[in-house]
Amino acid sequence: MPLVVEGLRYAIAGRPLLGPVDLRLDHGGITAVMGPNGAGKSVLLRLLHGLVRASSGRISWAGRALDDGIRRRQAMVFQKPVLLRRSVAANIDFALKLRAVPDIAGRRDELMRLARLDHVAQRPARVLSGGEQQRLAIVRALALEPDVLFLDEPTASLDPAATLAIEDLAKTVRDRGVKIILITHDAGQARRLADDIVFLHGGRVTEHTPATRFFERPASAEAAAFLAGKIVL
Ligand SMILES: Nc1ncnc2c1ncn2[C@@H]1O[C@H](COP(=O)(O)OP(=O)(O)O)[C@@H](O)[C@H]1O
Ligand SMILES: [Mg+2]
Repeated sequence: MPLVVEGLRYAIAGRPLLGPVDLRLDHGGITAVMGPNGAGKSVLLRLLHGLVRASSGRISWAGRALDDGIRRRQAMVFQKPVLLRRSVAANIDFALKLRAVPDIAGRRDELMRLARLDHVAQRPARVLSGGEQQRLAIVRALALEPDVLFLDEPTASLDPAATLAIEDLAKTVRDRGVKIILITHDAGQARRLADDIVFLHGGRVTEHTPATRFFERPASAEAAAFLAGKIVL
């Protein structure tokens, strides 16, 4: 499934917001996309998921140009989870029905245990805490059995304990063979989770580096400056 991006550009009303971007990502593992606010991280994710159409360039997954069939094998979770005004269980059932999964009840219970939400199954999703809502959004995405899960700053508004719970869940999802592409401005989180780092600045990738190397010695001046202003634990 390696992702290949070639000459990708995105502009709105003639104003370039991203690109040109060339990128190759391996199958599996967690890739973190980092960079300052406004660098183009969210735009890049939307392009990779086909939510917006590139102005030029190519995106292919496993040698196949991004199309609706590939999009159905992907899922995305945003910083503010978008949940149905129904119970926790019903939110998961909705996704399982989309995939026509057999044994919905069994699979739902498994997903709720994974998210550690089994004790609140019948509660309305919107009364959950921010961290619980985000865990629900992630396992609901997992119900779609994606090959790729995009996470756009999933812990940006969460406290440290809730953040670590999301990180544990992300690792479990990764261990199930789902490729995760994670936007984070939290360098500690990228260090804890990521195999490789894509660093964006001004709409361009200044480097794509294995995570261990990135945090020891980033290759680009832009990433070095970014990290110098961060506390990395
Ligand atoms: N729909 C849009 N219309 C106009 N400008 C946009 C739109 N979406 C994003 N931008 C601009 O594109 C740039 C990159 O945005 P974004 O990808 O959201 O940055 P970030 O790295 O913080 O996620 C920013 O300058 C932003 O203002
Ligand atoms: Mg963003």
